[in-house]
Formats: sequence, C-alpha cells, structure tokens
Amino acid sequence: MTKQKISTRISESKKEKPASEQLEFGRVFTDHMFVMDYKESKGWHDPRIVPYQPITLDPASIVFHYGQTVFEGLKAYETKQGEVQLFRPEKNMQRLNRSNDRMCIPRIDEAFALEAINQLVHLDREWVPNAPGTSLYIRPFIISTEPYLGVAPSKQYQFIVILSPVGAYYKEGINPIRIAVENEFVRAVKGGTGEAKTAGNYASSLKAQEIVSEQGFAQVLWLDGLEKKYIEEVGSMNVFFKISGEVVTPALNGSILEGVTRNSVIQLLNHWDVPVTERKISMDEVYQAYKDGLLEEAFGAGTAAVISPIGELSWNGESLVINESQTGDISKKLYDTLTGIQYGSVSDPFGWTV
Ligand code: COI
Repeated sequence: MTKQKISTRISESKKEKPASEQLEFGRVFTDHMFVMDYKESKGWHDPRIVPYQPITLDPASIVFHYGQTVFEGLKAYETKQGEVQLFRPEKNMQRLNRSNDRMCIPRIDEAFALEAINQLVHLDREWVPNAPGTSLYIRPFIISTEPYLGVAPSKQYQFIVILSPVGAYYKEGINPIRIAVENEFVRAVKGGTGEAKTAGNYASSLKAQEIVSEQGFAQVLWLDGLEKKYIEEVGSMNVFFKISGEVVTPALNGSILEGVTRNSVIQLLNHWDVPVTERKISMDEVYQAYKDGLLEEAFGAGTAAVISPIGELSWNGESLVINESQTGDISKKLYDTLTGIQYGSVSDPFGWTV
C-alpha cells in the first residue's frame, strides 16, 4: 500500500473523562477513532481519524453472520516524565496480519497502521490515565462489511482503532485468582483458529467462563481439544508453571495464541538465567508436581492483566492451592519488571518501548 495521508476531523464536543482511580477495563472510550476502508478495486483506502461514533452497517454484513473479523490489544502508558509510550506495538501489527491470513482478510501495512495508532493516541493524549496500574488500551480490529449471506471471504472491510482508558483487568489485580480446570468445553483445536485473534475464539469461551464464575472462579484453564490432557491457555491469557525451579509454558502448537506478554516473559526469564522451557505440559504432570510439593508457582500472562498469579486450581473435585495462594517471587518480579519497563521506571534493555 502506498503511504496515504490520514485526514483528521476533530470532535466538536469533548466527553467527560472518568477519574483515573475508578477505571474499570474497557467501559469508556475516548473522543476519536481511526477508520480505514477496503474494497477490492481500491485496496485499503481513505484512512481517517474521526470523532468516536457508532458505525452504520448493512445487517447482511458478513461479520454479523460468519464472524470474519480479527482484533488486537495493546496499551499506551504514561511515564513519570509525562511521556506516552507503547510496548512492542510492532508485534501486535505482525500478529494482526497473521490473524488476517488465517481469516482470509487482506493484510494491512504494519508501519502505516502503527502510524495511525500513533496519531490517534497523540490526538487523545489527555485520555491516557496516570493512576498506578492504569493505561490507555488500544483496540485495533477489522470487520467484514460486504452484505452477503453466502459463506465466503468478504470483498470489503473496515479497519478501526478505538481507545479505552483502563484499570486492572481482574478485580484481584496482581493478587492470585482461582481457576477451574475445564474438562468439558475446549477453546480451540489444532487446525482451527486458536492462534488467530478472532472473535469466535472468545465467543466459544463464554459458556465455560459463565459456568465457573457461578462457582467463584475467575477463569478456566483450557486443555487441548483432542485428548483434554495437555494445558493450552488460562482464560484469555497464556499460562506458565514453575516446577522445581524451571518455568514451563505450553509450546505454540497452532491452537495457542502467541502472546506478546508470553514472548516478553520468556525473554526476561532467559535474561535472568531462569530456566524456561516451551513444551507440552499435561494436567497430570502439574498434578503430580503439586502432589510432590514441586509446583512452586503458576500464572497467566497477557496484555490486559500483564501477570496474573494463579492461587488455586480446581481439578476433578480437588483443590490445588499453589504457593499458599500468595503471589510467587517470579510472578512478582515479572510483573514489576514488565510494568516497570512499560511505565518507564525500569530501564528497558530490550528496546521494547516506543
Ligand atoms: C489479553 O490481553 O490478555 C487478552 O487477550 C484479553 C482481551 C481479550 C481483553
């Protein structure tokens, strides 16, 4: 795509900003959004920043019926010096294109999409919250807008970016959450869409989440779709276990989402010379490690919650209490270092912040 100029229409009215300390995750949105259209004859075109507003779509739009859509999630952080920085945003744009490939959506120009995000964040700069643990969540997404009820890739799309000032994803924050191992439902299967960030994966996760939340669990631990034996993800995050000094995370296998935080955790552990392995790990192995007193920590890793320690795993009627339901040392160090880099209070040896 040739570089196009992004037009900007400034909102005439400014919305009231919520108090930084009271922010939840993903409930309020800023004054502007970015929009760009696609059609076969023109490619991606008409990039524009416009006032945040509802969009009008034909009810036959493919996205409503067959879910041909992808999204991303990244954050902008305000540093103590009052600057705004993004964390590894190029990784999100690369993944967006991998998701596009899987969902038959035309690729976007990654550098141009990043430029659009930069301009949008810059314009809504005052919406970046600054209370501890808050940030501006950036949600790029693409929807298929062709009005057509045949099951086929759409011939037209919209790429949209919206911004939401957010607080903690889980009300527990960095405090350990309770997780139920999911033995009935599965999130994804090999050959399916598990490694794409597409709506259907999240829609299909709701039922399990609904059932366990009634029992007081924050999320489920997903097992593989074939044997329900190997661990895949926790809630909408990647998952890590520390067993006998070694950190283990399920290897990417086609049904696991390749998380930016996952990748950052692995790089940090390597940097600290903490043994970390990507491999298959079964629930039986975790259970055995627990029984042998070797299961030291477990945590989820994702953009929204950063690091979320797991204090309890419920499996086959048994409750595995991990590290006395306290945040473990590695979880805490990873959380502090990652958020430190993100907020600019810890030096960034990897050049992750932009
Ligand atoms: C994450 O950032 O951990 C997620 O994928 C959650 C998002 C779907 C809200």
